Amino acid sequence: MSNYENFKIECNLNVTNQGRDNSLLAARDRFFIESFSHKYSYNFEFLGRPIIQYPQDMVAIQELIWNVNPDLIIETGIAHGGSLIMSASMLALRDLCEAAAAGTMLDPRKSTRLVLGVDIDIRKHNREAIEAHPMSSRIQMIQGSSIDPEVIHQVQAVAKRYKRILVCLDSNHTHDHVLAELEAYAPLASAGSYCVVFDTIVEEMPKTMFPDRQWGPGNNPKTAVKKYLQTHPEFQIDNDINNKLLLSVAPDGYLKRVS
Ligand SMILES: C[S@@+](CC[C@H](N)C(=O)[O-])C[C@H]1O[C@@H](n2cnc3c(N)ncnc32)[C@H](O)[C@@H]1O
Repeated sequence: MSNYENFKIECNLNVTNQGRDNSLLAARDRFFIESFSHKYSYNFEFLGRPIIQYPQDMVAIQELIWNVNPDLIIETGIAHGGSLIMSASMLALRDLCEAAAAGTMLDPRKSTRLVLGVDIDIRKHNREAIEAHPMSSRIQMIQGSSIDPEVIHQVQAVAKRYKRILVCLDSNHTHDHVLAELEAYAPLASAGSYCVVFDTIVEEMPKTMFPDRQWGPGNNPKTAVKKYLQTHPEFQIDNDINNKLLLSVAPDGYLKRVS
């Protein structure tokens, strides 16, 4: 067995153990409640664009992009564009690695890898900044509700051209909206890939944390995931990612397509 394989066995054991450590889990819960009230997820940027994520989820997405090697990433919820830029930059690195392995020069105009973002309200300043970004050649945006049949149709039409597809859902966080997104977009995730549902953490938070939101405990992405999985055995929650991250806005939200 290689050093790397031995190292991974040790890491996997640690991950399983930390996922059972009630004291650590209590510290995690406390950190979440305290950090949420400071809007901690708004603190970060990726290659110069604000990204509304916890850093652990950003690392997990980076690992998924490396392991799945998608040629298309579909994202609902663009906001300032940080997650689109992060995904596009990972696809660019994938292109770079493949060019290096083939001993050729990277020509971004020849890349077919794409990030497709959907948002109901792409603000002018955000669109301009995303379009001016060095990663923009790998990004396409659709403005409209992610559950509008016309928007779904447009996304499906793009997806037809791709083989390995990763899906990330991070728009409106109500149960009904996320369930409709899951029905529309999860089937586009290719076998072995993922549909990542963000903000399932809402289910674990006190009701008082969302006074001005349509969602809250009992009505959020996690309740939608639970409902969706009842009739979709082709997806399974990746518990290793849960236990590995601990600090994640998407507990039980990393759905692996197993068939
Ligand atoms: C949490 S932010 C997305 C953050 C982004 N993924 C990131 O990591 O930086 C949520 C976004 O969802 C968008 N949104 C809200 N309702 C939507 C809908 N029905 N369809 C598509 N996007 C929607 C909002 O306009 C907002 O930009």
